[in-house]
Amino acid sequence: MSRATAHAHPNIALVKYWGKRDLALNLPAVPSLSLTLARFETETTVTWGTTEDRFLFNGEAADPTTAAKIAQFLSLVDPARPPCNVDTANNFPSAAGLASSSSGFAALALAAVAASGQEWSKEQLSVLARRGSGSACRSLWGGFVEWKLGKRADGADSCGTPIAPSHWDVRMVVGVVSSKKKPTPSSAGMESTRLTSPYFPAWVETAAADVELGRKAVLDRDLAALGEVMESSTLKMHATMWTGRPTLNYWLPGTLGCLDAVQALRKAGIGAWATMDAGPNVKVLCLPEDSERVAIALAPWVERTDILAPGGDATVEQH
Ligand code: DP6
Repeated sequence: MSRATAHAHPNIALVKYWGKRDLALNLPAVPSLSLTLARFETETTVTWGTTEDRFLFNGEAADPTTAAKIAQFLSLVDPARPPCNVDTANNFPSAAGLASSSSGFAALALAAVAASGQEWSKEQLSVLARRGSGSACRSLWGGFVEWKLGKRADGADSCGTPIAPSHWDVRMVVGVVSSKKKPTPSSAGMESTRLTSPYFPAWVETAAADVELGRKAVLDRDLAALGEVMESSTLKMHATMWTGRPTLNYWLPGTLGCLDAVQALRKAGIGAWATMDAGPNVKVLCLPEDSERVAIALAPWVERTDILAPGGDATVEQH
């Protein structure tokens, strides 16, 4: 029996991933770019070689769908694996558009491979994490990370890669409009969008250019350029969701309230830009000195705000 514990932070996409080109391998239709966040994290302990599979999620037995997904994921680490225990917990609301699957599968990949006694490169771990959830391949690294589309049919080159050697000290102000579980999981939502939205081809065509702009903005430390491409990518992604059949809308009235508040801040000369994922919550990119003012502007529309700095790499220890 051997055991390892991993810690990973969630990441928020600045240039978004939405749509897959291969469902079985979880390969994306578009490249993307993200920021890993500090303070929010998943802690996952894997015990390799127990008497039966036992999976705990936030202290309770995982539901059957999650349990089946974890069991399948562990078999990617070693198809002849023994029974394992997994104990995973988040210190932030799960399944509320705060990217809990990104930190979840990054931590599970790291802990499972270490507990199995193998040594994999970070790229291999990122490819593995991607199989659990696409966005998880970006959470192996801290700071700004790009998820390369890759060319290979087996997906071995579709993984995260850090794009800035040292972190640029920005802030993401997370406004929790609702912490309820989202009605349509991302995987189902993005597949329905891909198959039915007439806007989906335009979304795919423009994604690589958005990643280029985003990468350049990060390297130039140009917050306005990064904010603009982030908002544009976000609105294009949601436009593909709205125009699918059936239509898919993750926003709530509070989401629009936050967007208005962010535009009013910009009119007042504050550099603040918003993004939303597969949920109603709004995350606002700004400089550290403006973050309190942003949080106050969001307050009327949200349950809570968190001001988050860039986070570091995912880590693992064997014990
Ligand atoms: C809107 O990574 O959760 O947050 O690969 O199906 O597990 P699966 O999807 P997931 O989707 C994230 C979509 C997004 C945008 C993003 O993080 O890039």
